[in-house]
Amino acid sequence: MAWKPASSYLHGLILLASLIGALASPFNGRTLQTRQQAPDAGSLLVGLGKAGCYGMSVFVALNDPSLPFIGYADFANKANGIHLRLNARAFIFASSADLNHRVVFVSTETGLPSHFTRKLVIKYLKESLPDNEGKLYNYDNVMLSSTHTHSGPGGNQDYMMYQIHNFGAQQSAREIIARGIAQAIVQAHNTMAPSTLDLSRGLLQNASINRSPQSYANNPADERAQYPSNVDQDMVMVNIRDGEKSRGSVNWFAVHPTSMNGSNFYVSSDNKGYASWKWEELEKLNGNTNYIAAFAQTNAGDVSPNLLGPHCTDTGAPCDGGKGSCGGNITKCVARGPGDGDGMLSTKIIGERQLDKARELAQGTPAMTVTSGPVGFQHAWIDMPNIQVGQDKLCAPAMGFSFSAGTTDWPGTQISWQGDNDPTAGNKPFWTFVRGLLETPSQKLQDCQAPKVILLATGEMNVPYKWQPSTLPIQLFTVTRKLAIIGFPAEITTMAGRRLRNHVHKSLVAANAIDQDAYIVIAGLSNQYGSYVTTREEYAVQRYEGGSTMYGPHTLEGYLQTFGTLASSMGQGSSPVKESPQFPLSQEPTEMNEVNLLTAVVLDTSFSGKFGTVKKQPQSKYGLGSNPTITAEFMCAHPRNGGGSVKIAAQETNTFMAVERLENDKWVTVRSDGSWDTKYLWRRVGLSDSLCTVEWNPSESVAPVAPGKYRLRYFGRHKTVFVTNSHSGTSNEFELTS
Ligand SMILES: *[C@@H]1O[C@H](CO)[C@@H](O)[C@H](O)[C@H]1NC(C)=O
Ligand SMILES: *[C@@H]1O[C@H](CO)[C@@H](O)[C@H](O)[C@H]1NC(C)=O
Ligand SMILES: *[C@@H]1O[C@H](CO)[C@@H](O)[C@H](O)[C@H]1NC(C)=O
Repeated sequence: MAWKPASSYLHGLILLASLIGALASPFNGRTLQTRQQAPDAGSLLVGLGKAGCYGMSVFVALNDPSLPFIGYADFANKANGIHLRLNARAFIFASSADLNHRVVFVSTETGLPSHFTRKLVIKYLKESLPDNEGKLYNYDNVMLSSTHTHSGPGGNQDYMMYQIHNFGAQQSAREIIARGIAQAIVQAHNTMAPSTLDLSRGLLQNASINRSPQSYANNPADERAQYPSNVDQDMVMVNIRDGEKSRGSVNWFAVHPTSMNGSNFYVSSDNKGYASWKWEELEKLNGNTNYIAAFAQTNAGDVSPNLLGPHCTDTGAPCDGGKGSCGGNITKCVARGPGDGDGMLSTKIIGERQLDKARELAQGTPAMTVTSGPVGFQHAWIDMPNIQVGQDKLCAPAMGFSFSAGTTDWPGTQISWQGDNDPTAGNKPFWTFVRGLLETPSQKLQDCQAPKVILLATGEMNVPYKWQPSTLPIQLFTVTRKLAIIGFPAEITTMAGRRLRNHVHKSLVAANAIDQDAYIVIAGLSNQYGSYVTTREEYAVQRYEGGSTMYGPHTLEGYLQTFGTLASSMGQGSSPVKESPQFPLSQEPTEMNEVNLLTAVVLDTSFSGKFGTVKKQPQSKYGLGSNPTITAEFMCAHPRNGGGSVKIAAQETNTFMAVERLENDKWVTVRSDGSWDTKYLWRRVGLSDSLCTVEWNPSESVAPVAPGKYRLRYFGRHKTVFVTNSHSGTSNEFELTS
């Protein structure tokens, strides 16, 4: 889904805005562009890397308020535990003809991308690699695409609009995400080796539905007739081989990682993360320990994993479709996944379906196999509101009333409903008054954005800095003549994505940069977050996605035009590696002027006992056949201070918990908090005490669980007035019987 507001968000926003007072200022109009392309074919080299990109930053708190997750924009939706750790998976492609000329694609298990995060990644790469290697990576050829999990930390955003519900900008969140991403890229850098790419495409019909079918249906009938479904059901698979051995894979399939709903408090990489985790575990069982499987995001703007559709939470009846409400109440209308209300089960089911299709494609006969070919990249920063499309110009950013309604994946605020663009209906008179406290949209903005009825005139709000970007990065890669990757800085709907792919395909073929049969994929949510993009016809319906298409009705045409120019430049021969001009900062936020209202952990105490003391022991025996949930509870500290680290099969990993098995009189670590079958949960007790629950569900394991003796461990760090110290706890041993 989306980044969208719950009622608490809007109230926080109003409060904040009235505190700071909103002033308008003009936006600038610069377009910056660089172009590069490798000269000729040579054998293909690929590097792969993976690293954790979450950390203590997900737990930001003084007592309660932890850092809310980004995605549902609900203050109540925040991290208190870890189910499935968040990772970054990096792929570097180069041709032996010119090794200095490479592209880096990273699928990051983050909610939203941000410019300042990418800036840090590039800085860290230059710091951790020798000069002549560090300079190979810059804005032009590094693409960071978020999977858009809704159960990951926020705080990394650059603009006020997306910072509010995370209490401003959290530089520590950006640093931890960026360190993980940079680490994954460095690993890929160090594993560059000749490789073969197998490309294939296949239909997955049971893992997604369109959550705004009313908007989709407004697209021209002859255009709709060209496609079998109102969602893209194609999965595109790139399998990377070294001879017969598969080194890893990346696939693109359009579906929101919103199987976990807005009341979840476990960090989770959701359905895509489950699929990645399980595939990598399966490969480990075959001794392929370094296998990396990325399930990347694409044109999922209007695509939900909640297959059972929207239902009323009280009666269980389907909602009144169009408005997404139950008797006029939108908060009662929530879509259900195949797990029927059980988010973890839905995560697993939607994850398994993507996994099965991906493995089938990777193991089947590929449509195309390539071992050589040039690698090309293009990158530009575009001043969106100043794009001219024929007679029309795009608009300064604004969000519509229907944006406030959210979607049926998790509803927003009862101000309006989806598809409502009547300025006099609903609660609008009241909210129109409130809007005036923030910033009344100018007549020019209203005319430009019509038929959107504006709730937030973000393009005219510049205090303390911009609320939404006007400058966005667009990026295009070609990997051999058979694959092009569009780095798209927003969420794009099914039909808008098809138009973009078709247009880029045509332009790249015309520029002789790819072959006619090449695959074009959109890497959604890349590099920076520019909300939504719908077609003009979908925009007219003004459901959530249209209400969040911020540059007005011609937004998509603006992107088509600029990506077309980028694609045409791709064929224009080589140029030495040269960095894009710097991000135009004059009107944008800078790290210097950012607002941060979040407080640090002040103190941890341990019930005047010892940190790590076991408060509740596991039972002494469990039968594996009885699907046991094995738990222990520890006196612990705030997780924001950090955890510990363990070695599993010689691999060092950070964790807050572990499962250990007794083997030849020695305790061996077999699980960390990065595993689906474990959970770690923290809670504050009183002012500064904490209790942590460590859980293991062996029946959810992929790696076989043998009968034997086991124990649970907890790792943490506590903060006293001057220092932070590490500590750990160990449960009694327990026996697993078959
Ligand atoms: C989708 O999955 C459901 C539940 O497993 C099944 O009943 C249905 O037949 C499947 N549909 C398709 C098209 O595979
Ligand atoms: C809508 O339903 C929610 C949840 O049942 C309830 O809390 C809220 O008061 C209702 N709102 C209105 C306007 O009836
Ligand atoms: C959200 O998910 C939780 C956990 O899976 C579930 O208990 C709850 O019923 C869900 N809420 C809604 C409104 O579906």
